[in-house]
Amino acid sequence: MTEYTAFDVAHIGNIELLTPKFDESLWFFRDLLAMRVVEEAEGSVYLRTWDEYQRYTIKLTASDAAGVGRTNFRTTSQDALERRVAAIEATGLGEGWGDGEVGTGPTYLFRDPDGHSMGVYYESERYVATDDKPALKNQASAFPGRGVNARRLDHINYLAKDVVANGEFIATALGGRESERIKLDAGGYAAWWFHFNNKSYDVVYSDDWTKHGNRLHHIAFAPDTREDILKAADIFLENGIYIESGPHKHAINQTFFLYVWEPGGNRIELANAGARLLLDPDSPVVEWTQEERKKGQAWGMKTIESFHTHGTPVVDQSQTQQV
Ligand SMILES: [Fe+2]
Repeated sequence: MTEYTAFDVAHIGNIELLTPKFDESLWFFRDLLAMRVVEEAEGSVYLRTWDEYQRYTIKLTASDAAGVGRTNFRTTSQDALERRVAAIEATGLGEGWGDGEVGTGPTYLFRDPDGHSMGVYYESERYVATDDKPALKNQASAFPGRGVNARRLDHINYLAKDVVANGEFIATALGGRESERIKLDAGGYAAWWFHFNNKSYDVVYSDDWTKHGNRLHHIAFAPDTREDILKAADIFLENGIYIESGPHKHAINQTFFLYVWEPGGNRIELANAGARLLLDPDSPVVEWTQEERKKGQAWGMKTIESFHTHGTPVVDQSQTQQV
């Protein structure tokens, strides 16, 4: 039976992305993903997807190297926030309270064992549409009708030196529930998927062959449909965006997907994540073997090499070993 605290975290609230090509990355998110700039600060811009109920989704920050800044998780209540802060503090990885950013309330800061910056908050201001009022009052703002039309943030996949240690941390500190994992023949996991709500994943840890620490594999946005992802591939092609893999279908969690690299180098996924929902509170964890993973993605296409080697920041991989 699932512990009630497994519902303490509602979802990923927002993510900071770092880019060494700020103007080009801004163009990618604003013009191709059809996100709206809601606030600008020194060296950063805050953008939102069109059905984001909060004020912002992504904080884009100019940096020497690509990568991920802080991921903030929203809890389901103030009580849930307090439970999670106590659980985080018990791990010894808490860093204390900070002010929220652009509509988010007090945020408790911490790091996972790999060093990824994280925060957890509850209070959040709703976005109030102005010149982007929707026709229907049950969506946050008008459908942009341009580019890829990213509707909402879906998940984050971190590279980690130790997948098991970081996965156990997400389960303990945030109450993440595991959905699927890839078991290595030699022990441990190559990757581990966690969810906070009925989607089958919100946070993933993948093995970082470089053992660098604090790196990003990708973040994912959800458009409305699978067809949108096919059209997205055409839009990225027309605009000179590097298409790394897809569109095709993941075996794990069955998401229809497309991976591209935004101009700053961060891998961005467009994912249709609604196919597999975990409604069963006793849903068994699905474990894949290394042999099963060698079969490739759902329809037999092999997982491409760069999927295992590219992450941000980009690091020298001449000394790395495949597991
Ligand atoms: Fe993904």
